[in-house]
Amino acid sequence: DGYNVAVVGATGAVGTKLIEMLEQTNLPLKNVKLLASQRSAGRKLLFKGAGIFVEELTADSFDDVDIAFFSAGGSTSQKFASEAVNRGVVVIDNTSKFRMDKDTPLVVPEVNKEALKQHQGIIANPNCSTIQMMVALKPIKELAGIDRIIASTYQAVSGAGARAVEEVKQQSREILDGELTENLTTEILPVASDKKHYPLAFNALAQIDEFAEEDYTKEEWKMVNETKKIMEDSQIKVSATCVRVPVITSHSESIYIETIEQTSVDQIRDSLEKAPGIVVEDDPSQQVYPQALNSVGKKETFVGRIRQDLDIEDGYHLWVVSDNLLKGAAWNSVQIAETLHEMDLVRV
Ligand code: A2P
Repeated sequence: DGYNVAVVGATGAVGTKLIEMLEQTNLPLKNVKLLASQRSAGRKLLFKGAGIFVEELTADSFDDVDIAFFSAGGSTSQKFASEAVNRGVVVIDNTSKFRMDKDTPLVVPEVNKEALKQHQGIIANPNCSTIQMMVALKPIKELAGIDRIIASTYQAVSGAGARAVEEVKQQSREILDGELTENLTTEILPVASDKKHYPLAFNALAQIDEFAEEDYTKEEWKMVNETKKIMEDSQIKVSATCVRVPVITSHSESIYIETIEQTSVDQIRDSLEKAPGIVVEDDPSQQVYPQALNSVGKKETFVGRIRQDLDIEDGYHLWVVSDNLLKGAAWNSVQIAETLHEMDLVRV
């Protein structure tokens, strides 16, 4: 007779989309609990037209919950995910907290749903940029194997949360009103936790998350390490450059791959057209290619600009676009819950 589900971080950029995805899911639902910080307690949000009061998150929030979706930052997951698991809840976590833990499946259902069988209460939703790349590359890996990946991303602001979106909108208004760049309010981007902040409006920032080893950012390391884990291939060569652009929603990626076996653009296009979760939009003669704006609100990953490299025989280029809040976060999470249900892996 249905699951009791909880959304942790229900008032946030991803939480809002989780509610929408739960409105559309075929997962049998009994009750939906909306949790956030004390700041939001008592706010009323709509679920299928009915008002639900937001409650303050505490460990006891999970007492009668079957599935909890966490999207309230890494420290909230750190503090409450195991409390939830101890109460018999299956946690689907959107933060990077548990992604690389050996016992935590890191899942894109189209790519590696079998990994769900190993779960011990927590399932990690991969990084948004990694998810859409995995969806697009899985059919090519099956077709011809992949030796090497070089990704350059053009990532939307909503991935940095609702406050970051407000900051960029405000900066844009100020610039259009004639304000000088040095006078703009910059408190959050590129990374709230870092020392310096720069405007993103009318700009492009080659920093997402903090800098880490080898002068790569943590976001770039997420794409590297998560790809190896999801593809179960520690040998695959992966490098990434992650860039924030003043797009509100949907990440775009330029992806270069080198295949192991010989293939062709036609075979790659054909394999992508047959794959789940992908829409191929690739007709240069008609100026057809994926666009961030067109993918907003869609669950699919859009692939186009499929080309052979001009010099490397087994090298190919792709342009991959998807809604970072949906397939990159809320939809992939709800899809994990649907898949757990189908595979009879939700412990009730
Ligand atoms: P709140 O709105 O009450 O601050 P975003 O990713 O858009 O910044 O959203 C973050 C989400 O995480 C919001 O729903 C926010 O709730 C929630 N959140 C942040 N910190 C906490 C916390 N300590 N406990 C519970 N929820 C939190």
